[in-house]
Amino acid sequence: MGSRHLPMLLLLLLLLAEGGAPDLSADRSALLGLRAAVGRYALNWTAASPCSFAGVTCESGRVTVLRLPGAGLIGRIPAGVLGNLTALHTLSLRFNALAGPLPADVSSLSQLRNLYLQSNKFSGEIPDSLFSLQNLVRLNLADNNFSGEISPRVSRLTRLGTLYLERNSLSGEIPAIDLPDLAQFNVSFNNLTGPVPAKLRSMPAGSFLGTGLCGGSAPLGPCPGEIPPGAPEAPAKKRGLSGGAVAGIAIGAAVAFLILLVIVVLLCRRGKARGGRSADVAAVERAPGSESEVALTDKRVVDAAAEPGLPVPAAAAAGKRLVFFGAGPRVYDLEDLLRASAEVLGKGTFGTAYKAVLENGSVVAVKRLKEASITEGEFREKIAAIGAMSHKNLVGLRAYYYSKDERLLVYEYMPMGSLSSLLHGNRGAGRTPLNWDTRSSIALDAARGIEYIHSTSPAASHGNIKSSNILLDRSYEARVSDHGLATLASPTPIPNRVAGYRAPEVTDVRKVSQKADVYSFGVLLLELLTGKAPAQALLNEEGVDLPRWVQSVVKEEWTSEVFDLELLRYQNVEEEMVQLLQLAIDCAAQYPDRRPSMSEVVGRIEEIRQSSMLASGDEKEEQTGSV
Ligand SMILES: *[C@@H]1O[C@H](CO)[C@@H](O)[C@H](O)[C@H]1NC(C)=O
Ligand SMILES: *[C@@H]1O[C@H](CO)[C@@H](O)[C@H](O)[C@H]1NC(C)=O
Ligand SMILES: *[C@@H]1O[C@H](CO)[C@@H](O)[C@H](O)[C@H]1NC(C)=O
Ligand SMILES: *[C@@H]1O[C@H](CO)[C@@H](O)[C@H](O)[C@H]1NC(C)=O
Ligand SMILES: *[C@@H]1O[C@H](CO)[C@@H](O)[C@H](O)[C@H]1NC(C)=O
Repeated sequence: MGSRHLPMLLLLLLLLAEGGAPDLSADRSALLGLRAAVGRYALNWTAASPCSFAGVTCESGRVTVLRLPGAGLIGRIPAGVLGNLTALHTLSLRFNALAGPLPADVSSLSQLRNLYLQSNKFSGEIPDSLFSLQNLVRLNLADNNFSGEISPRVSRLTRLGTLYLERNSLSGEIPAIDLPDLAQFNVSFNNLTGPVPAKLRSMPAGSFLGTGLCGGSAPLGPCPGEIPPGAPEAPAKKRGLSGGAVAGIAIGAAVAFLILLVIVVLLCRRGKARGGRSADVAAVERAPGSESEVALTDKRVVDAAAEPGLPVPAAAAAGKRLVFFGAGPRVYDLEDLLRASAEVLGKGTFGTAYKAVLENGSVVAVKRLKEASITEGEFREKIAAIGAMSHKNLVGLRAYYYSKDERLLVYEYMPMGSLSSLLHGNRGAGRTPLNWDTRSSIALDAARGIEYIHSTSPAASHGNIKSSNILLDRSYEARVSDHGLATLASPTPIPNRVAGYRAPEVTDVRKVSQKADVYSFGVLLLELLTGKAPAQALLNEEGVDLPRWVQSVVKEEWTSEVFDLELLRYQNVEEEMVQLLQLAIDCAAQYPDRRPSMSEVVGRIEEIRQSSMLASGDEKEEQTGSV
């Protein structure tokens, strides 16, 4: 009957339309399942449509992208959750505290192209089912606790371009991986042994650091039984070397070394005579300047031959003088400074920092300030106030130079670089872990430095507390640098950043209250305790909104999960670590009046350190003096 056609069609249409809807509702239920398991406090997902959830992107009525980096997710992901998001092509859960095994049902994500799970606490074997994801292009499982062997089925992921497995507990040999598009590969810091497979030998040596592998690029030794490239014929190996041969080689090597030494010394002298040092020599130095995390990437040395010293036109300096502070020796003048060989340490918020080696051998740090619109009178008044400050936990301002187009600040040079580079630089081979005693003493030193600044006047603040502004002297005593520079800056609109060190109420970088300093110090404490970098602290690397992350972890009563793995060996001071964590959280309170004053902070850290000294007693074997 004709009259029945229409309802029938409608019914069909409805069924078709709903064909998409049940999937989106399955996506929604899977996401809520994920939230219930690992993100009850962290994820604010209340909207009706999952496509409006933070971190979720939909295409054609399905959830295709889920990105929750550093979102404070904690715990185990049960089976039957992720696997239900069948339209996903990108899943990023990196920088969280997800633990336990990776559920095997990820194999249902047949559309998945990008899987980023690095920097979590996943453990157990990498599920075999993962290797059925034929569309996978990027796979990053680095910085977890995956164990077991690397499955030869990796080779089924024929589109794979990135495979990052570094910093896990994988063991055994690397299977014969042969993937035509593999461009990024890293298995460093795993318990891997045996030869590097032939197809992977073109990967850089950095891909195999801290393993027992052999036969790859340069630093890896040849595998037993393999003839190292360029080595003499094999028989010598079999027989072993005679005593005479060994002595001959040793003498030969010693002579060669001496000749090399003489050449190096001669070259250095010639370099010195031209008033500079070779870039290679200078680049080895540590960074003392404030933004030393930049320094690690920018080791440019000012061309010594063409223009020795700081890139300041000498004419601009003619007849001008440095203004010195304090009673220290004034063994150099502006001319000396401009003649000194200089090395860029870093570019920071307020200018570029250089290390300058004067002809008399002394070393200073020079900060060349960016242009600012304040008048000469204002500048001299403010800089005099900064120069008048003197405390053992402040990096002293020694002198300054002012002209219409040049402003230079001369500071003490701090040879051990910044806390930022100590915490986040070289997390790998050859790193000496920073122990609890060193960390808590750095916290106390820094707190005392800031307390001193606050004591000079009720309005005095540092204005830019961050780990790259905490510098260390030879004995790892910490000092605060760059104090007061914020007041010399031009008014600039603050980028709309919610995270990082900046207190939420700060709207003008030149007007940072003492309570805002306390907030930044709280973030710094969290950084010390977790080993994680706050957002925006490191160039080119994603940080975490530390206060938010820590709070969500602590709410879940997983407190010990927040601590830097390097600290976890100090079980006997866990209580003190938790107390310092509580202090950090108090400092990073959202409302300024809830934050303690800097003197209270100093008092509390002193107490914590006293009780940890009682607790540790004989556990002082690990000193970082040799970092
Ligand atoms: C995932 O899908 C299965 C089968 O359809 C279902 O039983 C389960 O409840 C779903 N899980 C979630 C968290 O929605
Ligand atoms: C959660 O999200 C809703 C809507 O997106 C918003 O109105 C609310 O303020 C958020 N709550 C928190 C605690 O972020
Ligand atoms: C890593 O996993 C092993 C078991 O595979 C476990 O014994 C160890 O405690 C885990 N380490 C961490 C830091 O979670
Ligand atoms: C590394 O692997 C070897 C052999 O596979 C094993 O004997 C050793 O215990 C492993 N070491 C660690 C630290 O897991
Ligand atoms: C591999 O990872 C290690 C540890 O994170 C890192 O030091 C190294 O530079 C990485 N190498 C490459 C080639 O990415």
